[in-house]
Amino acid sequence: MRENKKIIRQRIRTHLMEMSNEEHEELSNKIAENLFSLDEWKQAKTIGITISIYPEISTVRIIEQAWREGKSIAVPKCYPEEKAMDFKKITSFNQLESVYYGLLEPMEDTKKASVRELDLLVVPGLAFSNEGYRLGFGGGYYDRFLSHYSGKTLALAYDVQILDDLPIEVHDIAVGKLITPTKVLRTFAH
Ligand SMILES: Nc1ncnc2c1ncn2[C@@H]1O[C@H](COP(=O)(O)OP(=O)(O)O)[C@@H](O)[C@H]1O
Ligand SMILES: [Mg+2]
Repeated sequence: MRENKKIIRQRIRTHLMEMSNEEHEELSNKIAENLFSLDEWKQAKTIGITISIYPEISTVRIIEQAWREGKSIAVPKCYPEEKAMDFKKITSFNQLESVYYGLLEPMEDTKKASVRELDLLVVPGLAFSNEGYRLGFGGGYYDRFLSHYSGKTLALAYDVQILDDLPIEVHDIAVGKLITPTKVLRTFAH
């Protein structure tokens, strides 16, 4: 029987928590290197990306590299009442504040990046299919946002997060590429 979304989320979370700090760092670095080699990265001027929480793939290094290359970084601000989010530009990690569950979000006085301004979106997720379909954290925030976003998308994933069989619903939107420590997978949404 096909596992449901909730069970898969729990299984992947447990798996990721079992990883050692060394392994986490090594794999995050490999993923970052693969990302930096892509045309999508090289061409991007404004990148939407989350501030990772362990054991998610570390995005700190990626954000710092973007700044070094003169790119703009925008991070999500969630509005739980509407289950909506937008992306706000930050030029330093000092412009973040801790909200719920230790999640870091851009401070009030940061400037919003319009949907058209974002040319690359790094979409977070707990698991992905080879087609780029994504199992998120259960809020549907990215499905809602992606429904009116037309720029490039990709996701960073450990190889164990790529599953052969993933429950997909009509509102789920696939990402264009999957970047793992060992490969770059193009999907049909590319
Ligand atoms: N574009 C959308 N408009 C309205 N509701 C949506 C949209 N996308 C997702 N949802 C709702 O959000 C909830 C979570 O979606 P789900 O795909 O299970 O989560 P996630 O993508 O975070 O894993 C579902 O109840 C779904 O109906
Ligand atoms: Mg979804």
